[in-house]
Amino acid sequence: MAMSRLAPLAAAAALLAWASPAPAQTVVKIGAALSMTGPAAAYGAQQKAGIQAAVDQINKSGELKGVKLEAVIEDDASTKEQGIAVFQRLINKDKVVAIIGPTLSNTATATDPLAQMAGVPVVAVSNTAPKGITDIGDWIWRVSLTEGQVIPGALKAAQAKLGFKTAGVLYGNDDAFTQAGYSVMKSALEAMGVKTVGTQTFAKPDRDYSAQLTALLGQKPDILVVSALVENASGIVAQARQLGYTGPILGGNGFNSPALIANAGKAAEGVLVGTAWNKVSTEKANQDYVALMKARGHEPDQFCTQAYVGVQVVADAMRLSGQHTRAGVKAGFLKVKDLPTPLGKFSFLPSRDGDHAPAVQVVKDGKFQIMQ
Ligand code: ALA
Repeated sequence: MAMSRLAPLAAAAALLAWASPAPAQTVVKIGAALSMTGPAAAYGAQQKAGIQAAVDQINKSGELKGVKLEAVIEDDASTKEQGIAVFQRLINKDKVVAIIGPTLSNTATATDPLAQMAGVPVVAVSNTAPKGITDIGDWIWRVSLTEGQVIPGALKAAQAKLGFKTAGVLYGNDDAFTQAGYSVMKSALEAMGVKTVGTQTFAKPDRDYSAQLTALLGQKPDILVVSALVENASGIVAQARQLGYTGPILGGNGFNSPALIANAGKAAEGVLVGTAWNKVSTEKANQDYVALMKARGHEPDQFCTQAYVGVQVVADAMRLSGQHTRAGVKAGFLKVKDLPTPLGKFSFLPSRDGDHAPAVQVVKDGKFQIMQ
């Protein structure tokens, strides 16, 4: 009797269990302000690919139990104005737990104070100006190595190979990153005892650098050292070769894009660039990442990789704090230590900047190759 009265209940419970969806997942939004248009668009496209790959990978792994990440990716148009509008939307409308970006240091100087005031963690993944980024405040963190962490070593490695004694220097004077890169280059050259025989400037809209290059090459420098975003960098490299210069050219972080090789063609051969990503590293995290990107049909560059790591770091911070709130992400950042990433084992410095080993690349046979 009792059995028969309970039977319908058991049947209903079985039906409910069958019909109920998978355990509820909280959707957590990570914002990204990337330069999809404008002079930094070559970097933005790579960054977007890295963020999407990391979000998919983390969701698939189930490592953030009960949490599903969602990337909200917006175009900062390589400008401060658009960057500010995007940050306001991500902070107030999308209510993201963290913001990755913006692509340019120049934009970050205008956007990051908004996140600092609102208490939203920012992870810079491509800003390389040493000053004026993480020192905005305690909500601003950075994965990307600065020009100060990369250029002096790249110059020394290049000098050990090439033995230059004099340099001609060219830099963009209308951008926070290109100006900061120049000041790092200037001090590093001085510290190495390399004589700067000439210094010239340009601005982002410029496309003809022949006056500046002619003046520099007239001084017969052993090396050209250039701080430029990739659109300008490609033109500078191509025009230097057209003017007959066959010597070495060393660029800052702006040069570290396959767009340089695509646009400058053969002129890019021999160009030297420091890099935060050693793409041939045999560490497991890098090998897994390279295989993942290959399976996704995407050829990653340093910008893609750093953006991927930006998401990894935010996810690790959530795991470490056990919270998926803005304050939880920030609290978790303090605990991130030796996180295995394709950039190497990642930790933050007390200044909230990234800390891992850089490498040096040279363009050879139409590709960036790690200088051994
Ligand atoms: N590294 C460049 C910057 O900081 C893209 O603006």
